Amino acid sequence: MSVLMGHFLLDLSKQRLTKETLDKLFDLARQQKLGSWIEKLFAGEKVNVSEGRSALHTALRLPKGESKHVDGENITADIHKSLAKMERLVKKIQSGQWRGFDGSPIKSIVNIGVGGSNLGPLMACDALEQYSTDDLGNLEIYFVSSMDGSELEKLLPTLDPAATLFIISSKTFSTIDTLANANTAREWLLKASRRNTELINQHHFIAATGNNVAALAWGIPKKNQLLFWDWVGGRYSLWSVIGMPIALKIGMGNFRAMLKGAHDMDTHFREASFEHNLPVLLGLIGVWNINFLNIHAHAILPYDGRLAQLPAYLEQLEMESNGKSINRENERISYRTCPVLWGEVGSNAQHAFYQLLHQGTEPVMCDFIVPAIRYENDGSELQQQHRLSLANCFAQSRLLALGDSALRVDVDSKDYEHYDGNQPSTSIMLDELTPETFGGLIALYEHKVFVQSVIWEVNPFDQWGVEKGKQVATSLLTELKHITNGYLDSSTKGLLRYTQSQRKVSSRED
Ligand code: F6P
Repeated sequence: MSVLMGHFLLDLSKQRLTKETLDKLFDLARQQKLGSWIEKLFAGEKVNVSEGRSALHTALRLPKGESKHVDGENITADIHKSLAKMERLVKKIQSGQWRGFDGSPIKSIVNIGVGGSNLGPLMACDALEQYSTDDLGNLEIYFVSSMDGSELEKLLPTLDPAATLFIISSKTFSTIDTLANANTAREWLLKASRRNTELINQHHFIAATGNNVAALAWGIPKKNQLLFWDWVGGRYSLWSVIGMPIALKIGMGNFRAMLKGAHDMDTHFREASFEHNLPVLLGLIGVWNINFLNIHAHAILPYDGRLAQLPAYLEQLEMESNGKSINRENERISYRTCPVLWGEVGSNAQHAFYQLLHQGTEPVMCDFIVPAIRYENDGSELQQQHRLSLANCFAQSRLLALGDSALRVDVDSKDYEHYDGNQPSTSIMLDELTPETFGGLIALYEHKVFVQSVIWEVNPFDQWGVEKGKQVATSLLTELKHITNGYLDSSTKGLLRYTQSQRKVSSRED
């Protein structure tokens, strides 16, 4: 029940299944033609049926020599061209040759983006910070995503405008959250610099986008645009130019090592038999828990503070991909798909929600993620802390699985001291956390999501469920300015009226 693959160990022994169960799950995968779906994915077939697109994030990590054709065109040349442009800009910034409006070298980078244009780079910069060395320009990298402006409000007063460069990360370049933050940032620069908009756009803005026309219309000149393609899903885009903050933080060499780690996982996913295939196993175990054992909550528990952003990243990857109830044939389905997923650094979660895992009424499946070694050259105290973390990680999965029988139980113990156990978990161990293993880990989850989508017959590459909200918000913006009492429910009308009355009070007080 455990599989070794390169830098990874996947341990399924604490799941509620036997070898026979696994064999039946492999039969299910064969029945759903998983093998041929994997081939379709890699071959660039239009697996994103509702949008008529391929999903070729795997092509972004292909080594230079390999070719991949989409609609008759070899896309690898374009991919490497766009990476080369990113590399030139990265080096220019890191070496201090990119200058702000008064000639100052850039010291601070602010990535403005949301969802897939934020979560992946943010997570990677956090996870791989130790690979940021002095020769990379000692850049401070910040991430701004929230629509309400709270992050900019706090951040801008701490920055030197002349030494600050903004990366506007948006596949569509139409996401209102990102554009609102970008406009605020530009206004700040214009006020501080007293220079014209064109000069500010040239010296202080880069676009990472799939929509060069919209980026240009906003004012970002072509030479400052890094482009990617509609066949890269937003939540699968950290491997593209959306990964620019990662390259700025850890250097292009390490960025490429991350791509290599993901590519190795791709090759494994494509070639290994189901029995030894990490993404296939991870996906099928999920299906077993969700559809056969009726478990609809999934906790992501990294026992390593560097992976603190992993749960948030996986929330989007899994729930935006497979949170669906319509199949590829546009029919409503009658079985469960993606569970509710959340998480936290494991040792912190122990002091927050583990009570529910151990003694609550909800069945929850857990992923424990931890590197075997850390701090090898950093002194014994830190090594001791890593050991402590490992011990807690192993202890918690053991207790969740075995309950009272994990310990010698006092016969007189009270009911409230009792642990049922039988909460299933998977342990994913990496030898160490490096750019390469990090890339492999993320690709492992990407492919796990794909495996589950094939079993559930849903399209994991669209996200129609978030589109309507954007339309409704646009119409409400007008109502906020001037209540027309139009086509609205009474609850929303009440909220609007309350907002208006508070505005009146506040303007009277002014
Ligand atoms: O609203 C959902 C979404 O479309 C995500 O899929 C995407 O990652 C995010 O918004 C940001 O989109 P964009 O990169 O186009 O700004």
